[in-house]
Amino acid sequence: MNFFELRTIRWEDGKVVLIDQLSLPERLEFLTLRSCEEVADAIKRMAVRGAPAIGVAAAMGIALKAYNSKARDREELLRELEEAGRMLKGTRPTAINLFWAVDRMLGLAERFEGGLEELKEELVREANRMADEDFETNRRMGEVGEGLIEDGDVVLTHCNAGALATVGYGTALGVLRAARERGKCVSVIATETRPALQGARLTSFELSSDGFHVTLIPDTAVGYVMERGMVDKVLVGADRITRDGHVFNKIGTYQIAVLAERHGIPFYPVAPSSSFDLESDWRSVKIELRGYDEVVKIGGRRIAPKGVNVLNPAFDVTPPELVSAIVTERGIIKKPFEESIPKFIKKNL
Ligand code: MRU
Repeated sequence: MNFFELRTIRWEDGKVVLIDQLSLPERLEFLTLRSCEEVADAIKRMAVRGAPAIGVAAAMGIALKAYNSKARDREELLRELEEAGRMLKGTRPTAINLFWAVDRMLGLAERFEGGLEELKEELVREANRMADEDFETNRRMGEVGEGLIEDGDVVLTHCNAGALATVGYGTALGVLRAARERGKCVSVIATETRPALQGARLTSFELSSDGFHVTLIPDTAVGYVMERGMVDKVLVGADRITRDGHVFNKIGTYQIAVLAERHGIPFYPVAPSSSFDLESDWRSVKIELRGYDEVVKIGGRRIAPKGVNVLNPAFDVTPPELVSAIVTERGIIKKPFEESIPKFIKKNL
């Protein structure tokens, strides 16, 4: 398996075909989804996960709703699509790409001036365009960001911001792929990323499949490797970045950024413009709280006593002062973020 070219999500004859991330790394299996409801369920169960990937999956969910619709007129179809949009937006609250993708699809449907059948076809085309754009955006981010990487660097990454979290190539891991394509030698330290283990199951799988030298560490070993001078840079993805530079990403990112600052290690989020939220105050962004079993069990086996109290936030917030710069497809955004982010990012809704 080569993740440089792989497409993780595709539209195929009225169905959405995507990699089942829950089966990795034991089995590489594809799910075939036939309805918007099945797409919503796959997002909720994290069979598809990663901010850009769930955005494109949601767009394909809206396309499926249109493709399968028996609506007799445009108004009826629009009502069905709005209902589908509400369902998709209710799956996971933190990654803004999901909301951006649904709004882009619904905005197109509202503005469209042709007939009912043409509108359905146009929605399918738009979802496919978004998939293609995601891949191209990641290639561009790779080109923009690879200049930050020096030959021989060891990069620490958290969670999975790779091909699997996107339609292909990846955000943070795309930068590493681009550096490698330019002939630089890069090795990676991947955190396991408890409790859903995206680092262990996905990042170490996709990087080692592509021939990177990757070392998997427990989340608790980040201070150890940094204190020993084993890390040159930290590159992570992002689920949402507000206009003042607060970065929402997988739980554990904040403590990595704090440790990076203490050890003088640059900390770079890598994210497309669809991950930016220019409207919300960072304090009002909802952080997803996930279930009990993810924490009290590992691989289905209970590791904590019955009845123990559990808190399982899926994301945290890294404040702008801990962020060195942000890599986007439009260039590298430097501080002060409250001035530079609104200039760089004009949302293409
Ligand atoms: O809960 P997940 O696995 O969807 O969380 C994913 C992350 O936090 C990634 O780091 C983020 O989406 C960036 S992906 C390019």
